[in-house]
Amino acid sequence: MITFKDNVFRLSTKKTSYCFRITPFGHLEHVYYGEKIDQDQDILPFIHKRTAQLGSCVMYDESDETYSLDTLPLEWSGIGKGDYRLSPVEIKRPGGNYTTDFVYRSHRLLPGTITFPGLPSGYGDEEGCTSLEITLEDLTEKVKVLLCYTVFHEVDVIARKTVIVNAGETKLSLQKIMSLQLDLPNDDFKLLTFNGGWIKEAHKQISPLGYGTIVNSSTTGDSSNIHNPGFLIGSAYTTEETGRAYGFNLVYSGNHYGAIERSNHDLVRIQLGINPHCFEWVLDPGERFCTPEAVMTFSGTGYNDLSNNFHRFINHHIVRGNWKNRERPVLLNNWEANFFKFNQEKLLRLARKGKEVGIELFVLDDGWFGARDSDKAGLGDYTVNKKKLPEGLKSYAKKIHELDLLCGLWFEPEMVNYDSDLYRAHPEYALTTPGKKPSLGRNQLVLDLCNPQVRDYIVENVSRILDECEIDYVKWDYNRHISDALSTTLNNQGEFFHRYILGLYEVLERIFIPRPHILFESCSSGGNRFDLGMLCYSPQIWSSDDTDPIERLKIQEGLSYLYPPSTMGAHVSAAPHQQTLRDTPLSTRFNVAAFGSLGYELDLQQLSPVERKEVKAQISFYKRYRRTLQYGTFRRGEHYKDNKVIWHSLAVDQKEAISGFFQTLAGASEGFDRLRIPGLIPESKYRVKTKAQRLFIKRFGGLVKHIMPVTLNPDGVILRTANRHYGLDDCVEEYTLTGALLKDNGILLNNQFVGSYINEHVRILGDFGSSLYVTREVNDEEELRSPE
Ligand code: DGJ
Repeated sequence: MITFKDNVFRLSTKKTSYCFRITPFGHLEHVYYGEKIDQDQDILPFIHKRTAQLGSCVMYDESDETYSLDTLPLEWSGIGKGDYRLSPVEIKRPGGNYTTDFVYRSHRLLPGTITFPGLPSGYGDEEGCTSLEITLEDLTEKVKVLLCYTVFHEVDVIARKTVIVNAGETKLSLQKIMSLQLDLPNDDFKLLTFNGGWIKEAHKQISPLGYGTIVNSSTTGDSSNIHNPGFLIGSAYTTEETGRAYGFNLVYSGNHYGAIERSNHDLVRIQLGINPHCFEWVLDPGERFCTPEAVMTFSGTGYNDLSNNFHRFINHHIVRGNWKNRERPVLLNNWEANFFKFNQEKLLRLARKGKEVGIELFVLDDGWFGARDSDKAGLGDYTVNKKKLPEGLKSYAKKIHELDLLCGLWFEPEMVNYDSDLYRAHPEYALTTPGKKPSLGRNQLVLDLCNPQVRDYIVENVSRILDECEIDYVKWDYNRHISDALSTTLNNQGEFFHRYILGLYEVLERIFIPRPHILFESCSSGGNRFDLGMLCYSPQIWSSDDTDPIERLKIQEGLSYLYPPSTMGAHVSAAPHQQTLRDTPLSTRFNVAAFGSLGYELDLQQLSPVERKEVKAQISFYKRYRRTLQYGTFRRGEHYKDNKVIWHSLAVDQKEAISGFFQTLAGASEGFDRLRIPGLIPESKYRVKTKAQRLFIKRFGGLVKHIMPVTLNPDGVILRTANRHYGLDDCVEEYTLTGALLKDNGILLNNQFVGSYINEHVRILGDFGSSLYVTREVNDEEELRSPE
């Protein structure tokens, strides 16, 4: 709901309120963002007081000595009138000045959302969403700014975006324009950002908010694996389950800019939008520029609830098309099994093995086209590689379908290799800087998506293959950052980065909107483009090229602050892992990947019979709890010990939960482990049971002699054969208690192996061990079936 009364705008979602007012001078003063307040709540307690004149401040108008823009919390500001904090907008007119002062002119309330052509944004109907558009104007400079707000009522998210209109008679040059500005009184805030790089994406970093500015941005041309565009701020004592926190994110896949500035008067200014780095947009008289959408949310009950607001927003208002809210198939991707070395026979053998263990979708990754036998050739070409697939792609796809599997295919359409037919025919399609040798990344150049001919080339070729081969799933890769950012189709290169992203969105619209049955997974060397813009087209994103589950604990946990499990591609791969050489148990590889959209990425043929049996059991377990794991309420447990990670996914009706208990490095002679499960119905009774899993004999090395009547060589034929066919059952525990007790006291779990004793009641974790626990409501009348 949005109301306007006595110069005060009140925006309310189900659990939050957001208020600002028009000051006597026409500026928009932020008043309140937090827990929901009554419509008639007096706003005086929340007003940032100015009962004394402050030193070193510039008075906006002599009639009020306390009115200084520098000490007002502002919804929007300008430059040159006394606000010395970051400005959300920088405009230059030829020969003109930088000063701008935007004041209120009018507003209108609109049902539903506000959309800008060419830019993806949150969607919703008139019942769930309401919007507000406020017009601010700088009369002397003849510039208007429209501030747009959309309230997504049920999910407690408010979206913001901006339009700037050149209302004058001369050109203006726009050098910075933010989607959102928010000023909050500091509450001992700390900042949570999600940083990293290739194979170490989205690691959570907590920074204190000292005086000055922290910038969370990307200049790579993509949203980047270096700094995800989303970030949070929380009060000093905010935890996963308690305390106040705010979250911000941007519906955009290009260069982003998030700034968090603490002023000397302890106001915290948050800005989010397109990165001004190398940005300049020239507006002719009458022209306008629309920013991407920024979104924000608040929780008074900790980070888990904050994340859940974002999760529900993404599941209901960002992901669209046939795959919205639909269970994602378990896939098998051939990349880590084959790299570039495969042929049709090999692929079909792998696919058949996949089918046997319950795989639903088989994905043929890189290497099926052109001269693509390494990453040095072929990108840009769409002719099938006949050495690998002699009967062609269509016939291969038909064979996959005949196995009753969905057929998935990899593309990297935004790139070109020197060694490709496309580059030989159209070198001008690639980004280059005149007079400079272009810089390669993974041996490839970036295609110029600002060029309409390039966009047509991609749309025609990709669409043709999708239709001819009846492809069900697309993995769209993008394996390098942009360099040599220049398009010969543009007069003003300050537009390049934004126009590239607009070009990308146009291409995605043209390919995927007419083909809503296709499940589209975006990928960018893993999570280099894990953002809300891509999620408007691709319901899931390959989270990282790192399939080591211990690394994934950091990556998926970081992503979970901003994105729901259904969006995270998570695969079980072979160990030792290609990325870290770490050797992890098969059970842990599954237990971590189960908290995402599950896939396998290994050569199933190389597994032992007992491992294949285990994989089959994993997939059937996953299918049984898939809705809860993909669409449930995800909760991070508190890290009560440095070497433990606990995750939960709770069914929306709170009748069921899956919990993961993960140990990174084993501690020597550790004390007890406790499993708490928050978020269930306090008065309901639940049964908690460990998911059965197998331990493989080879894990115990020479120690097996202690449990065998005869001493056998751990590397000898007998034990090696036994290891291929038998596994030991891991310890299973079972408990019954209420939701309240599960949250508050939790369960003290059986001892884990600490070097002294072993029987079936001892949990075997060691380095990288883990267990899943299934919790189900116990119905008194109908005794619960075993969860397995
Ligand atoms: C990077 C991706 O993230 C991998 O999964 C794989 O598809 C390779 N590219 C293929 O080149």
